[in-house]
This record gives sequence, C-alpha cells and structure tokens, in this order.
Amino acid sequence: MFQAGLLKDKTFVITGGGSGLGAEMARRFAELGARAVLLGRRKEKLDEVVAQIERAGGSASGYPCDVRDSAAVQEVASRLGQVDGLVNNAAGNFLAAAEDLSANAFKAVVDIVLNGTFHCTSAFGRRMIESGKGGAILNIVTTYAWTGSAFVLPSACAKAGVLALTRSLAVEWAAYRIRVNAIAPGPVPTEGAFSRLLPDPSFEEAARNRIPLKRFGTPREIADAAVYLMSDGAGYVTGDCLTIDGGEWLRSGGEFSHATDFDRDNLKQMLKAIRGKEK
Ligand code: COA
Repeated sequence: MFQAGLLKDKTFVITGGGSGLGAEMARRFAELGARAVLLGRRKEKLDEVVAQIERAGGSASGYPCDVRDSAAVQEVASRLGQVDGLVNNAAGNFLAAAEDLSANAFKAVVDIVLNGTFHCTSAFGRRMIESGKGGAILNIVTTYAWTGSAFVLPSACAKAGVLALTRSLAVEWAAYRIRVNAIAPGPVPTEGAFSRLLPDPSFEEAARNRIPLKRFGTPREIADAAVYLMSDGAGYVTGDCLTIDGGEWLRSGGEFSHATDFDRDNLKQMLKAIRGKEK
C-alpha cells in the first residue's frame, strides 16, 4: 500500500506503544523507515516491541513513562532530538454503570485519555515548534466521542475532549505547520480493549453483527490509516477525524438501519407489498 522508505528520516513518538494498536502503529511506522519512539508504563512490554522492530531491521527505542505524569513526559521530550510526529494512543477504559462510578474512577480515565493527551501534545508539540520544521499529531479517539455511549461515561467525556483538542489545535498550530488529526476506530480486536470491553462471547457476537461490514477492523488497517495521516502525503489534511469502523456508528443512528438485520428477500417482499398498497 505504501512505498518503501515513505517515512524515512522521521521520528515518531507513540504513546501506549507497548501493546495493541500502539505497538502495531510503531511496527508499521518503523517498517516504512521511521524511527519509532515508544512510551508506555511497562518497560518489559516496550522492550518486546523494540526488539521485534529491531529484528525486522527497523529503528526503535522505548521510554517507560506514564502519560498522566506531566513532568515525566517533559523529561522524555527533553532527552529526544528532532521529533516529527506524535501519536496519542495511550488510553484507559472500563465498562461501568455511571451511578456506580466514584470520583476517582472518572478521574482515572480522564487523567490518562484527556490530560495524558494534553501532556504529550504540549511537551512534544513544543519540540516541534522550537525546531521550526512543523510536524504531525494524531489522536486516537472513538466514534462515541460524538455520539456518546452508555456504560463508558468517563471515556466518552475524555475522548470528546480529545476531539475538541484535535480541532482546536489544528487551527492554532497551523501557523507552526503542525497538522493535528484523529482516527476513530470501531472495535478492533486487541487484548487490552476486548478483555475490558467485550468480556463475553455474546457481547462480541452482538458487536460484530452491529457492523454493516460484519467484521471487526484489524490493527493493520488502523496502522495504515495512521501512516497516511502522519506522512507528508497528507500535508493538506488537518483538523479531521478519519472514522474506521465498518459503518458501525452510522448504522446505529439511522432510523431504518436495523432493517439490515432482516432477511433481505423477505425485506424486499415487504417493501414491494407496501408499494403495492400505495397504487
Ligand atoms: N468499574 C468501576 N470502577 C472502576 C473500575 C470498574 N471496572 N475499574 C477501576 N475502577 C475505579 C477504582 O475502583 C478506583 O476508584 P476508587 O479509588 O474510588 O475505588 C479508580 O477507578 C481507579 O482505579 P485504579 O485501578 O486505582 O486505577 P489505575 O490508575 O491503576 O488504572 C484504569 C486505570 C482503571 C483505567 C485501568 O483499567 C488501566 O490502567 N487501564 C489502561 C489500559 C486500558 O484501559 N486499555 C483499554 C483501552 S480501550
């Protein structure tokens, strides 16, 4: 899909780079020539991904760092040379009824997702501004950033904030040639997300059936979209959010979309009968 060496000479920082989508994006960036800088809480996980990338001939380094800790993020930023891009991927989430959430539970998610995104954007964004060379920032959000969703209230509020940050900074930092975009994935099977959000096979089946394309996305599909948005080929794209969800959120909102669940021949007969009555 992409030319070899597309991201040559770029250094991209990826938060939550030790597992799931973050690790996949890091591997893909490195495969295309970028130097991947992974941030994550667990050193062993980072080491594993760095080793994989190096075995495949790529360049990577890992920095154990909790994005909730602004000083720690700034410290990492001060140790790096030129930074051309940042992917705010680190997230925290769990399913819970809103009435059962403690203040600390709400704060735990908002601290990682919204404050963590701000800490990294601020620290690495300043590096991009100082260099005078511009850069690209990509925020991983979710479609319920704009629809909202039951049972993930802290995450929905935090991701809505990240989307607002994306659009606000796209305008404000265009002056520094820093592009700011987002990707909103639908359900993508990764250990972290599925063990928390689809803990039961019946949840998984219902989730798959809700998707018009009748399958989950793959980490590679998200990583390839990230490559595009981080590359110079997307040089005129800023402030946008690319939805990659197999049509899931639109289908959930359309008043008659549930009819896609009906047997198609029966549905057509029914529609024909309605038309017949009109004549
Ligand atoms: N339901 C309700 N409350 C919950 C909860 C759940 N499933 N899980 C945690 N909480 C509450 C805790 O009870 C605590 O509140 P309290 O102090 O009032 O009791 C608060 O949230 C913080 O929990 P704690 O485990 O101390 O937080 P943490 O900072 O160690 O972990 C999480 C943060 C909870 C977001 C944790 O799931 C995490 O680290 N996730 C990172 C990875 C991730 O979620 N990836 C998924 C991406 S889709």
